[in-house]
Amino acid sequence: MKVAILSGSVYGTAEEVARHAAGILKAAGHDAWYNPRASLADVQAFGPDAFLAVTSTTGMGELPDNLQPLYFAIRDQLPAAWRGLPGAVIGLGDASYGDTFCGGGEMMRELFGELGIREVLPMLRLDASESVTPETDAEPWLGELVDALRN
Ligand SMILES: Cc1cc2nc3c(=O)[nH]c(=O)nc-3n(C[C@H](O)[C@H](O)[C@H](O)COP(=O)(O)O)c2cc1C
Repeated sequence: MKVAILSGSVYGTAEEVARHAAGILKAAGHDAWYNPRASLADVQAFGPDAFLAVTSTTGMGELPDNLQPLYFAIRDQLPAAWRGLPGAVIGLGDASYGDTFCGGGEMMRELFGELGIREVLPMLRLDASESVTPETDAEPWLGELVDALRN
């Protein structure tokens, strides 16, 4: 499948996870596309048939600045071609923030919902207060994603 990976990151952790995910999806035979500076036009030109969002959380449950332009562009346009496509979200956060834990990931889930993208796997929440190895922590979930996209 042509999998578009969208990421939002302040300090680069989510980008590392996104890059790792791209490698795993490619090794499994998917055409994974990852451009951390993608515009809506770039994503549309790729012509995805599945989506993976990988985003951290900043402020009080907000999306990182570098994902906001793409997020708002998608929300304004709500491309009809993406309706019904499979998707999944990896949220990075820190549970010590309480209610806003993985708020950025939750915003991407809501956006996928508005787009009609089908969430094929529950969101993976990577907690920075629990682990310093988010890429390897994501591997079992990414294995499940590979299987879910095969069906
Ligand atoms: C200023 C600041 C605000 C944050 N706010 C939240 C938050 O509201 N909710 C949350 O779950 N994590 C929050 N975090 C934690 C980050 O999302 C987490 O450390 C993440 O792994 C950072 O990934 P990144 O390097 O891709 O930005 C915050 C971190 C910082 C430094």
